[in-house]
Amino acid sequence: MKHLIDIKDLSTDEIDELITVAKDIIANKEKYSKKCERKKIATLFYEPSTRTRLSFEAAMMELGGNVLGFSSANSSSAAKGESVADTVRVIGGYADIIAMRHPKEGAPLVAAMKSEVPIINAGDGGHNHPTQTLTDLLTIQCEKHRLNDLKIGICGDLKFGRTVHSLITAMSRYKNITFVLISPKELKIPDYVRKDILEKNNIEYVETKDMEEYMQDLDILYMTRVQKERFFNEDDYIRLKDYYILNKEKLEKAKDDLCIMHPLPRVNEISTEVDDDKRACYFKQAKYGKYIRMALILKLLNIK
Ligand code: CP
Repeated sequence: MKHLIDIKDLSTDEIDELITVAKDIIANKEKYSKKCERKKIATLFYEPSTRTRLSFEAAMMELGGNVLGFSSANSSSAAKGESVADTVRVIGGYADIIAMRHPKEGAPLVAAMKSEVPIINAGDGGHNHPTQTLTDLLTIQCEKHRLNDLKIGICGDLKFGRTVHSLITAMSRYKNITFVLISPKELKIPDYVRKDILEKNNIEYVETKDMEEYMQDLDILYMTRVQKERFFNEDDYIRLKDYYILNKEKLEKAKDDLCIMHPLPRVNEISTEVDDDKRACYFKQAKYGKYIRMALILKLLNIK
């Protein structure tokens, strides 16, 4: 049995295989519509979600399976003090696979150690969000037709944004990737990402506060939300929340084939006037999330 807790749990070949299957699902939906008949996914979400939870549920439904679960800790026995370990032991008797989001970093790993069914980390605190990364990789492959030779700008909350940490980790495996890391000094990437991933793998990167400085060079601009729920001090959040707002004017020098991504939800960091720009890929990105999660469910359930 295999779990997905960290994007590092997957080899590059496995990621490429998931992308290939997801693209086949997009092209041949009917072929997959009964692959998970009689299977169930449990979505255990101790933290709010729209895309991740509902796309997992839609993914299982489109594979012919069923779904059960809870969407907040308060509606489960966690509110009475039940541990994650006990919960997954019980749910393993009701479902074939579990997708879990939890505010505590490492909670899905603890679950995986006790679970009799595969556990998928659907986001743990400020740490990791591997299925968002798979979504991002499928989006890049489908929109740019390559995962190599890319200059990627990542803008916003690089400190608390778990999607950022997983994305940098994953893209660092591909050839000729350069990162432009755009953030205020308070929200720079954590040292462990800089040292253990970028520097260790000799990945070229620059850090800047200026969103427009490298705009003309970028192949991808990955915008992120300032993560209000991870701040200890509300004044800091209020000061930083609107630091970057992408609008048409800021895109003036950008390439015609720039791919603008965002894991969503968006707050103010992308003006709605950008939504109609052909370079805005973030709503397509959310849809790609369902297909890559279908491919992942098949893989973890060992269904060909
Ligand atoms: N991108 C993402 O994780 O969205 P949700 O929080 O809505 O699941």
